[in-house]
Amino acid sequence: MSQQVRDTILRKLDTFQEMPTLPVSLVPLLRYMEKPMEQMELQQIVDLVSKDKALAAQCLHMANSPLFGRRQAAQTIRDAVVALGFQRMRDVVVSCSVLSLSPSDNHGVDPTVFWEHSLGCALVCRQFASGIGFEDPGKAYLCGLLHDIGIIAHLWIAPREFCSAVEHARKDGSPLHEMELNSMGIHHAETGKLVSARWKFSDDVIEVAACHHDPSSASAHRSLVALVSLSDMLCRMSGLGHGITESRQIDLLEEPGFALLSQECPNLKNFDWAKFTFQLEGYMEEVHRLVSLLYRPQ
Ligand SMILES: [Fe+2]
Ligand SMILES: [Fe+2]
Repeated sequence: MSQQVRDTILRKLDTFQEMPTLPVSLVPLLRYMEKPMEQMELQQIVDLVSKDKALAAQCLHMANSPLFGRRQAAQTIRDAVVALGFQRMRDVVVSCSVLSLSPSDNHGVDPTVFWEHSLGCALVCRQFASGIGFEDPGKAYLCGLLHDIGIIAHLWIAPREFCSAVEHARKDGSPLHEMELNSMGIHHAETGKLVSARWKFSDDVIEVAACHHDPSSASAHRSLVALVSLSDMLCRMSGLGHGITESRQIDLLEEPGFALLSQECPNLKNFDWAKFTFQLEGYMEEVHRLVSLLYRPQ
């Protein structure tokens, strides 16, 4: 049975049946938004965002949200970029574009919980990267946001089977990827690798999507994969785990990702985990607010 499901998923992925086409503006936008903040130019962001009407409307909506306490309404994309600042604009642009990939019919699974996990992981990745002196926190954010893109592919091409794997994981308190593998013969990391390559995401995003549940299997970008893998676990342990409460106790310091990451970031050994875990609660609140503001089913 699971072999059959696996074959069907692989066939649909191969022919790109039942999958959305990526909005034309998304790849150039994502590439641009990967740049270090100091190299970004206001006009270029304005031009890129303006090419996509839905995205432009979301950015304006966001800039005018009471969340940012603005006194003057933002009327143009330029106003919105100025109001939100580059970093938040980057978060909004990237998140809106990626959120638009959700299918409209979700067969009973609420995609909000997946986006909350992904946005939470993105935030945790960035803060964690900054805290340990990782070279590119912006890249870490993007990879955190996209690491579970295979889940979105499952929602499109095998929604019933995927939802039943989620149900099992919720009942058993088991990690979702293990339940997917049991019942579908494939987990979202394998699917994520295929779909992100197909969507022409950059090599490091593809490697993270493919290896975040087994960072030692990464053949490139190993410290980035390890960083996202640890952040993903932190989120799953802090109540942002796709609505699944995992029963297994995890000691992050014993995880293979920890050893991998400490090779590149010696600062990791002095990282203040207690403080970081405490700060996580604040990020979680921000994530709930952002997702409720950003995510609107089509
Ligand atoms: Fe995952
Ligand atoms: Fe995840």
